[in-house]
Amino acid sequence: MSHQDVTNKPGAHALFLVYGLNRPDDIDSVKACLDGVPATVKSLRGRFPHEEVSCVIGFGSDAWDHLFPKRKKPAELKPFEEIKGERHTAPSTPGDILLHVRASRMDLAYEVASAAAEFLGDSVFSLDETHGFRYLDSRAIIGFVDGTENPDVQDEKEAAAVIGDGEPDFAGGSYVFVQKYVHDMKAWNALPAEEQEKAVGRRKYDDRELADGVKPENAHNAVTNIKADDGSEIKIVRANMAFANPSQNEHGTYFIGYASTFTATRRMLENMFLGDPPGNTDRLLDFSAARTGTLFFVPSQELLEELAE
Ligand code: HEM
Repeated sequence: MSHQDVTNKPGAHALFLVYGLNRPDDIDSVKACLDGVPATVKSLRGRFPHEEVSCVIGFGSDAWDHLFPKRKKPAELKPFEEIKGERHTAPSTPGDILLHVRASRMDLAYEVASAAAEFLGDSVFSLDETHGFRYLDSRAIIGFVDGTENPDVQDEKEAAAVIGDGEPDFAGGSYVFVQKYVHDMKAWNALPAEEQEKAVGRRKYDDRELADGVKPENAHNAVTNIKADDGSEIKIVRANMAFANPSQNEHGTYFIGYASTFTATRRMLENMFLGDPPGNTDRLLDFSAARTGTLFFVPSQELLEELAE
């Protein structure tokens, strides 16, 4: 089974489009999109071979029920359950179709997204559209390099992001979770760099990991570092992007994580928002508010083609 482009790097430009269905059982426009968008991407890749054009398509839980009522459902595809801690909340927000468009040129990303909008027509409405950009040397908007601990080798990326033997009916698929954060940049910038480094768990200038003993337990890369029973690290593939509307004082991180099981991502989120042990919440959250939170299932290429027929 081949997977969609779920193991790609974040890229230079990304469009994150979350749609709701106006007519939940209107399968024709969705089929046109499932057929037409990969064809558009293929054409652009042929014409612009160096521009890394891709588009991942995913479905939310309700959309799966309505569009494909006779099909089996991926085991972990359910509406995301809000995580409400004493200090921080990860809200659950709706979403039927996710398009994650990437390209090294914005005009090519636009080309894919506008074709998708045409195929979907009035069968959908926009719930969120975020334009992400690569910030400096792949930094989050808070000034720290983002993505360093992602798996690097293709086998490891696939093990982290792509469903395998654990769910044979959906092998080649992926669970993708998106979460849009806005940062309190005034408060963040008021922190001395050393305190910011303790919140992230890495040095700001050269991205070096803080040593044990220096890194606090509530550092972001401490709480999101989760282990299996055998002690090995459980990884996901993140393709976060910075986004900003400076004139409106909006500066954010669009978190997007692809995983072979949603359980892994959920555990990271619970560690961040509730803490393990309880109360040891992620220091980054003192400067970051999650505005959305939606889970989607990304079918394998083969299943996507089948769904388009
Ligand atoms: C406020 C939004 C977020 C920002 C700005 C952010 C930024 C960062 C940065 C700068 C790093 C260190 C470099 C790296 O290894 O990538 C990091 C690591 C990491 N983040 Fe995030 N992140 C955010 C949200 C999340 C969420 C929601 C999750 C999971 C659900 C997550 C999972 C991880 C993981 C697994 C690591 C690597 C941990 C390790 O070193 O083992 N992040 N993030």
